[in-house]
Amino acid sequence: MVREICVDLGGDRSYKVIIAAGILDETGRLLGAETGQPRVMLISNPLVFSLYGQQVVEALQSAGLRVSTALMPDGEEYKNMQQVNHMLDEAMAANLERSSLILALGGGVVGDLAGFTASIFQRGIRYIQVPTTLLAQVDSSVGGKTAVNHPQGKNMIGTFHQPDLVIIDTLTLNTLTEREYLAGLGEVVKYGIIYDSDFFQLLEDKAALLKDREQETVQEVVCRCIKIKSEIVAEDERESGLRMILNLGHTFGHSIEKLGNYKSSKHGEAVAVGTMLASLLAQEMGLLDKPSVDRIASLFDKLGISASLPAYNPDDIYEGMLNDKKVKNDKLRIVVPREIGGYKIIENPDRSMLIKIIKRAASL
Ligand code: NAD
Ligand code: GLY
Repeated sequence: MVREICVDLGGDRSYKVIIAAGILDETGRLLGAETGQPRVMLISNPLVFSLYGQQVVEALQSAGLRVSTALMPDGEEYKNMQQVNHMLDEAMAANLERSSLILALGGGVVGDLAGFTASIFQRGIRYIQVPTTLLAQVDSSVGGKTAVNHPQGKNMIGTFHQPDLVIIDTLTLNTLTEREYLAGLGEVVKYGIIYDSDFFQLLEDKAALLKDREQETVQEVVCRCIKIKSEIVAEDERESGLRMILNLGHTFGHSIEKLGNYKSSKHGEAVAVGTMLASLLAQEMGLLDKPSVDRIASLFDKLGISASLPAYNPDDIYEGMLNDKKVKNDKLRIVVPREIGGYKIIENPDRSMLIKIIKRAASL
């Protein structure tokens, strides 16, 4: 079964997200039909390319497309300007034109860097996302945020540049390590908590199937996440308001990722920990009752996700939160759940309250 969602940005800026098992073989046909472009530069990393690169290249070539490939090393530490320069050199060497396309084949790191490269090459060319991690399939491939890291902060250099098409082959998730798959589930849970209580219930009911990567369940869940994300992006593309709710758990999470030098915790793992902290904060503020906090903790548990806080100094976690991009006019803004299926944005929460919550989470 092929599922299709439209990210409705009005007129020709709208684009399709196509979700199915085994759809990588259709990449050339879909891309040709949607974009009509003959020249593509595929960006990936050696691991993903060794698994799926040849399949995609052949699918593109058999549809008559001319393909070049450019690889970046695997890892968040390579999501940087040096690799962007490398990709720009590759684009020049491949004679890409303003009408050419970039195709990102990989997880969120490849997707963010390829999208950023596409957004600046010749003042912006079109690109296609073919996400291969769960996190990228449910979140980063849709919505047009592109970025690379600066030595002093994550995602500090970036653009909004929407893809032309997103092709999601859920079979690619079968080769993900357990740790990467579970990290992606951390982002899945956020959609239920802040936006859709029915989806939260579905995750509770199908937790075992989802954890086992049962295909039909995975496709249904990816599709529900993308529907929610596309509704939010359609309403607030540039994150002037609503889109901020997609950052549930991220203000705490980014600080935790940074304290672990982006090595100890994966992004999705840190977001899960951050989501638990945000839930405890909501409870402390009377926005979420104890049974709901317990339901969130129990869903993480059922899915096999650890939401335990690593043993960092609470003051260091707080300081790291102050460096987050979501700080506005020097004021910290934190998204918290308001019952399950709703949210509230807390402006400038008390330092002492945050430290208290962090200490409480550390003792759980
Ligand atoms: P990742 O891209 O580093 O991928 C994780 C690992 O899985 C890598 O080693 C990768 O090579 C490997 N991999 C990818 N696909 C595979 C497959 N099918 N089989 C086996 N291995 C595979 O990490 P990620 O979690 O996908 O993405 C995290 C990045 O996404 C972060 O940089 C984060 O900032 C960014 N992000 C961006 C947005 C956005 O809206 N742009 C949203 C959320 C996260
Ligand atoms: N992952 C957050 C966003 O796309 O806005």
